[in-house]
Amino acid sequence: MHIKICSVAAVVLLAGSLAAPMAHAHGDVTPQPVDVSTLKPLGEKLLGVNPYRGDKEAVKEAIKVGEVGYAKNCARCHGLHAVSGGVSPELRTLDSDKETDQYFLDITLHGRTRNGKVYMPGFQGVMGQEAIWAIRSYIEAQPKN
Ligand code: HEC
Repeated sequence: MHIKICSVAAVVLLAGSLAAPMAHAHGDVTPQPVDVSTLKPLGEKLLGVNPYRGDKEAVKEAIKVGEVGYAKNCARCHGLHAVSGGVSPELRTLDSDKETDQYFLDITLHGRTRNGKVYMPGFQGVMGQEAIWAIRSYIEAQPKN
């Protein structure tokens, strides 16, 4: 099942690169910076857990920032409001634990390339950890069904 989903994604990506003018109809494919100026800076050192989870005040702003960041950078593959259309994995069902936090941070920074094909672009250099944890917080705040 997983393999099938991925080959669909690869076909979509390939079709997108062959028909570049059409790609614009589906949203911007260039990673977009996220305005994190309303969030407290977290520093350069990557944190191992989502720092906004469980912080009632900070998480509200993080969700707002994450909503915009998600819509700009993730929705075209992972679905509007994080509801997957089946082409890319469903992100709402990821666990909210430390291990999954690290996995989320890593894949968002570096993306996923297999057999030389880019399934997902990495966002390193485009967004810092504030934006990534904000997006994680936004996804966690979405209803699971
Ligand atoms: C070009 C399409 C595309 C974009 C844009 C994209 N992703 Fe992905 N993402 C994928 C695909 C395809 C996979 C599955 C990769 C695989 O199976 O190896 C994936 C996998 C993931 C996973 C692992 C999910 C799991 O169940 O293991 C996470 C987490 C993730 N993406 C987060 C994000 C975030 C956050 C963004 C926006 C900042 C984003 N992605 C943008 C296509 C995309």
